[in-house]
Amino acid sequence: MRVGVFDSGIGGLTVVKSLLEHQLFEEIIYFGDTARVPYGVKDKNTIVRYSLEALEFFKNFEIDLLITACNTVSAYALEEMRAQAPFDVIGVVEPGIIATKNALTDPNAKVLVLATHATVSSKAYETMLKARGFNNTISKATGLFVPIIEEGLFTGDILRSTMDYYFKDLEHPDAIILGCTHFPLIADAIADYFHNNVTLIHSGEAIVEYLETHYVFTEKHPEPRIKFFASENPEALRKVAQNWLDLPEEK
Ligand code: DGL
Repeated sequence: MRVGVFDSGIGGLTVVKSLLEHQLFEEIIYFGDTARVPYGVKDKNTIVRYSLEALEFFKNFEIDLLITACNTVSAYALEEMRAQAPFDVIGVVEPGIIATKNALTDPNAKVLVLATHATVSSKAYETMLKARGFNNTISKATGLFVPIIEEGLFTGDILRSTMDYYFKDLEHPDAIILGCTHFPLIADAIADYFHNNVTLIHSGEAIVEYLETHYVFTEKHPEPRIKFFASENPEALRKVAQNWLDLPEEK
C-alpha cells in the first residue's frame, strides 16, 4: 500500500515516524503546508479550503490512502475531503479516541486533551469522548508549544515555564491526548511534569493501531520509498525529517 500523509507543516512527521517504525507502507508521500502553517489559529472555512487544496496535490500520486496527520484538519475538514477523494481519507481524532478507550478502563477517568485553539473550539475530541462514555474531559488550547517544538526546545526552562503556565492550575489527569502533531516530541517532558503517572495518547501510535485493525497488511516494508513535499522551503522540511526520523540519507 502507498500512503499520503498531510499536515499543516512539519509536525506530521511524528506520525510518519510511527508508520516507519511499524513498516506498514511501501511508499510514503508527505506534504506539509509550510507556507501557511499554523492552521490551528485559523477558522473552519480557511482550514477546509487549504485541506481541499492539499487533497488536489495528493491526487497527482497513486496513493491508496491519505492520512491527515494534522489534528486541526482532522477536526474540521475530514468530511469535505472524503467527499472529494478518490482514496480513503483517515484523520487522527477517531483513532486517538479509540486508543484512549483501549487504554482506560474507568469511564470516570480524567482525560485532558491538549490541542490547538481551532481543535479545541471544534469540540471534536470532547464530543467523541462523550459518545464513548467519557464525561470527565478537559480540553486545553496549548498552541505555544508548537513554535517551541519547532525551535527544537524539547527540554529546558522555556518549555518548563510554558508547561507551568498551562498546567499549574489543572487537576492531575489520568490520561492526556496529545491532540496536536507536534506534541509527541515533548511527550517525555509532559509525562515528567505529571510525575510519570499519566497515560499519554499519541496520534502516530493510535493511527497505527487503527490501520492494523481496519486494513490488511500482508508484508512489512523496512525500506519504504519516502518523498517529502512542502508548500514553502521543502529543503528545510527534508532536513527536519532526516533529523527527527533518523533517516541516514534521503530515500
Ligand atoms: N498540525 C497542527 C495540529 O495537529 C498543529 C500546527 C498548526 O497549528 O498548524 O493541529
